[in-house]
Amino acid sequence: MNSSSSISSSKYLSLTNLPLFTPLHLSFLFLHLTILVTGDSPPPYVPLDSIALDCGSSSQSFVNGRQWTADINSKVALLDQDGPSTNPTENGASTSSVPYYTARVSLSQFTYTFPVTTTGPKSFASISIQLPTLVSTDEQKNLSITFTPSPHVADAYAFINGIEIVSMPTNLYYTAGDDPGMYDVNHEVSLPLQKDTALEIMYRVNVGGGEITPPNDNGMFRSWLSDPDYLTDARPSAFQFNGTIQLQYNNHTRYAAPDVLYRTARTMGPDSTVNKKYNMTWEFPVHSTFTYLVRLHFCQFIPIILQKGDLVFKIYIANQTAERYADIISWADGYGVPIYKDYIVMMDAGGNEGIQNLSIALHPIQSTNALDAMLNGAEIFKLSKSDNLAGPNPDAYPDSPVSNTPRASTKPQHSRRRTVAIIGAAVSGIVVVSVLFLLIFRRRVQKFSPKIQGLGFW
Ligand SMILES: *[C@@H]1O[C@H](CO)[C@@H](O)[C@H](O)[C@H]1NC(C)=O
Ligand SMILES: *[C@@H]1O[C@H](CO)[C@@H](O)[C@H](O)[C@H]1NC(C)=O
Ligand SMILES: *[C@@H]1O[C@H](CO)[C@@H](O)[C@H](O)[C@H]1NC(C)=O
Ligand SMILES: *[C@@H]1O[C@H](CO)[C@@H](O)[C@H](O)[C@H]1NC(C)=O
Ligand SMILES: *[C@@H]1O[C@H](CO)[C@@H](O)[C@H](O)[C@H]1NC(C)=O
Ligand SMILES: *[C@@H]1O[C@H](CO)[C@@H](O)[C@H](O)[C@H]1NC(C)=O
Repeated sequence: MNSSSSISSSKYLSLTNLPLFTPLHLSFLFLHLTILVTGDSPPPYVPLDSIALDCGSSSQSFVNGRQWTADINSKVALLDQDGPSTNPTENGASTSSVPYYTARVSLSQFTYTFPVTTTGPKSFASISIQLPTLVSTDEQKNLSITFTPSPHVADAYAFINGIEIVSMPTNLYYTAGDDPGMYDVNHEVSLPLQKDTALEIMYRVNVGGGEITPPNDNGMFRSWLSDPDYLTDARPSAFQFNGTIQLQYNNHTRYAAPDVLYRTARTMGPDSTVNKKYNMTWEFPVHSTFTYLVRLHFCQFIPIILQKGDLVFKIYIANQTAERYADIISWADGYGVPIYKDYIVMMDAGGNEGIQNLSIALHPIQSTNALDAMLNGAEIFKLSKSDNLAGPNPDAYPDSPVSNTPRASTKPQHSRRRTVAIIGAAVSGIVVVSVLFLLIFRRRVQKFSPKIQGLGFW
């Protein structure tokens, strides 16, 4: 890192875990700390396009560090609508519920056209999902998104609360030309991830750290949750934190995740006898019969783990051996160097109503300095080449920790925890999807009235 550009920054990171009072999670209750971060954070990514559209709204609002533009008479999006729409507004909602307290609801098709400055390949794959149909095309620099009520359901309507479009570094998720691609857990081959594949974010977690909200991401408005909700075995696991280390990013990891993510981690705990007997495990409910990209983020910053071989462990993803010999220092080529690893995994048919858990499990190997394992962060994306990212319809996530929380509340807090929030409305089973091409395109949908019952939420 260039020290001439160092302006020592300090930032407070509040680690507040979700109040999950199950016995499994009791060991995390103590965690409510405020931690002083003193290392230098690299400058965030500056997206060329950053659009936040508040659908059905006629006024601007500034929320969470973002300017939300009303879609009525908007300059950032041209609206083309065949018929009338109703734009319900929830009375008494505070501006913090933007964009969820307004919506565009229509029995006829409508299209938003966004002029975008992003350069790059001129054809976006079109994706379509069950209800409503979402079509995304790139006409030079116009990105249009069309919502079509299903022709197969009587009185179906298309519904949207808000759209966010944020450009991102070209090879942050897609494979660069000189890169062999991602490791397929099943077949032990490399697969490039190319633009004919759509990615839908399912989970983003800051392992061993607190929630990172969109304004605190490194410029791309991503939202990272804390990990206790997904931990299923972490016996006496330990939190690791290093607020002073000068992280050494390389060009590849430069914008991979916010600084705070790499400064926090979870390890298995201090007792090697215990560690030897268990897998530190996280489980994430996902739809069966889809292929997923699992990205694991690592950064070794524990003072006694300095050399290759000091801390080595195995990684299992969906019960398959993803790594027999994971050595963070060796991978990153140094201490304090962030690195991520990508794995492609196919989830077979099975599970309860098409939903099963994708597990990530770490197990220690006898190493020079420790019998332990470590993870800083994880992202899980659903992949699709077949123009369809929709899950079974109706869509339900009965076991998801998020869906267990009361949905009747009109507060969009939980939806905000996800960069993609998807909800089915009882009448037409609306399922909306987020797209990630050269753009991160995020859509947040939530019921605008408690009378429309969500079927699923994840
Ligand atoms: C983008 O769309 C607008 C409105 O439909 C149109 O006037 C403009 O010519 C389009 N621009 C390009 C580059 O296609
Ligand atoms: C953080 O890393 C630095 C090395 O850069 C080390 O000296 C320090 O002890 C570490 N702090 C903690 C709390 O691990
Ligand atoms: C990183 O990127 C910069 C600017 O594009 C380039 O000058 C530098 O050589 C790159 N470093 C490495 C290690 O590839
Ligand atoms: C793997 O095994 C665990 C039990 O250790 C189980 O809960 C999980 O659902 C299994 N399947 C996958 C696909 O991860
Ligand atoms: C860890 O998980 C793997 C893959 O599911 C399994 O084969 C192994 O038995 C587990 N080890 C322990 C100690 O539970
Ligand atoms: C996924 O794991 C959680 C936590 O262990 C469990 O409660 C849930 O039943 C599992 N879901 C499925 C579909 O196996």
